[in-house]
Amino acid sequence: MYYPDELVEEIRAKNDIVEVISGYVKMQRKGNNYFGLCPFHSEKSPSFSVSPGKQIFYCFGCGAGGNVFTFLMEYENYSFQEAIKALAQRAGVSLPEETDSREAREKDNKRAKLLEINKEAAKYFYYQLRGKSGQAGYQYLKKRELSDETIHRFGLGFANMTGDDLTVYLKRKGYEDRLIQEAGLAAFDEKHGIHDKFWNRVMFPIQDSNHRVIGFGGRVMGDAKPKYLNSPETQIFDKSRNLYGLNFARTSRKGNIILCEGYMDVISMHQAGFTQAAASLGTAFTEGQANLLRRYAQEVILAYDSDGAGVKAALRAIGILKEAGLSGKVLNLEPYKDPDEFLKNRGQAAFEERIRQAENSFFFEIRMLQREYDLSDPESKTLFHREIARRLCGFSEEVERENYIEAVADKYHIGFENLRKLVRSYAAKTGFAAPPVRPKSGIREKSAPDEGRKKAQKLLLTWLVEEPAVYKKIKKYISPDDFTDELYRKIAEGLFGELEREELNPAALISLFTQEDEQREAAGVFHTKLIQLQTKAEQEKAFHDILVTVKRNSLESLSAGLGNDLSALSRVIEGKKALEELSKTHISLD
Ligand code: CTP
Ligand code: MN
Repeated sequence: MYYPDELVEEIRAKNDIVEVISGYVKMQRKGNNYFGLCPFHSEKSPSFSVSPGKQIFYCFGCGAGGNVFTFLMEYENYSFQEAIKALAQRAGVSLPEETDSREAREKDNKRAKLLEINKEAAKYFYYQLRGKSGQAGYQYLKKRELSDETIHRFGLGFANMTGDDLTVYLKRKGYEDRLIQEAGLAAFDEKHGIHDKFWNRVMFPIQDSNHRVIGFGGRVMGDAKPKYLNSPETQIFDKSRNLYGLNFARTSRKGNIILCEGYMDVISMHQAGFTQAAASLGTAFTEGQANLLRRYAQEVILAYDSDGAGVKAALRAIGILKEAGLSGKVLNLEPYKDPDEFLKNRGQAAFEERIRQAENSFFFEIRMLQREYDLSDPESKTLFHREIARRLCGFSEEVERENYIEAVADKYHIGFENLRKLVRSYAAKTGFAAPPVRPKSGIREKSAPDEGRKKAQKLLLTWLVEEPAVYKKIKKYISPDDFTDELYRKIAEGLFGELEREELNPAALISLFTQEDEQREAAGVFHTKLIQLQTKAEQEKAFHDILVTVKRNSLESLSAGLGNDLSALSRVIEGKKALEELSKTHISLD
């Protein structure tokens, strides 16, 4: 924590969440809350809500939530510190420099410096492209049919023939050799001394989702190798957590994201109006990138190269998308190699048509699988069918599985009942991947009670926020220590303090956490809709059950780790008394 809690809270309180979010999302008031289309996933009807009373936002569709800091962190891709700074500035609160620890300040400083020097380099390349020494680069981009507008929009540039001009330029601007090297813009060797990393290449600045330049890709203009040269990973350039073009794609609102392999593909697609295109950065698609995409769209359409390597990469990506809960489709670009070539030869309308025809990722997998078998040979054909059956077991939901069995049977001329039997017998041996079909599997049994425990703790917190008056009646039975889940314990500590002082402030509790995912989880506590129970008696019973459950779980976990600790033992004994009393006590919700 760099800034004192009181200061963070002051800044938060001075930035009304409705006002801040209104700058990004169009919202309408409905009852106590404001509603709008969620900026973190794609939707047609509003499930994104902002509560002026609680000063928090929550999306019932994708689960995004938090306070005003969280919103900026998610939307602008800021760190907690950056969000604090931005909102301090907005509200005219000055931030003390001294409160930063030296180490923290240096780290922050380094990030800022790296961003600054990348921006400076991008400007330099951009300027070069327009100058005399950049003509070859400009001609090259023109030959690739990019308009001036597109070149400008993507900030394309040129690194000229000279081997050290950028380094000289940056040094003149006051940057030290070490920083220039650390940013990956220059390298050092005995023979040449310090020299530019990029020369004689057209330059693609890589931006984070907040349009800040974090690295570069540079392409040679001829056939030399390597075709592309990319910045190394740095403190601001994490290749597995950024995507080229996402800064534009994330606000395209097309209902899907088109994922391609190359920089040029992304640019051609945007130029043709497919502004939802993005690409990974010269590395394979990662889980981190899939999670990033999940904020913006439910469906990802793969537009990978049509060659063997592209198919292999697509198959890998499909697995990653599935894991992330995204639905995947695959675009067929034949007979062209990639989206860029397709667009050049067939144009936008034909591409649109290919998007409409995009293949369901499961069918794509099966079609690619088929290439490995000889269907004229009964033995090979049988193996193919078995492999299909094995994969069909991966669908956990019965309706979905049946639908796929039917579709695949139809497509590959396999008898429906035969395929179904094959799937069943396969599942009997190995089980469906689905948890509901094997409720007794080891993993579920271990994690289920844990989930149950967490859920009770979360519900108890939610109750206390919704019915703060009940706090006085229960505080003799329950303390923050009874929350075994670390995150919930931390919330409980803050919340109990607030309830004690009778100043409930959910948004302030969210600032206890510095990470987006923790803030999101915390916001969930304040937004979980309580089960709508009919009568007061039912509500009181439900509340009582939750209370007892939390207390009992806490005692169980305390006893489990008891050993010879006498003070813990006495706490268990006291706790048991409290639990017994609690079990017999009626707690009214009036
Ligand atoms: N790539 C890379 N290093 C290479 C080759 C490729 O980092 N030596 C990355 C680049 O990000 C590139 C992507 O892989 O954009 C796809 O490669 P390729 O299909 O060869 O690139 P295209 O974008 O199609 O390049 P171009 O159209 O300019 O030939
Ligand atoms: Mn290409």
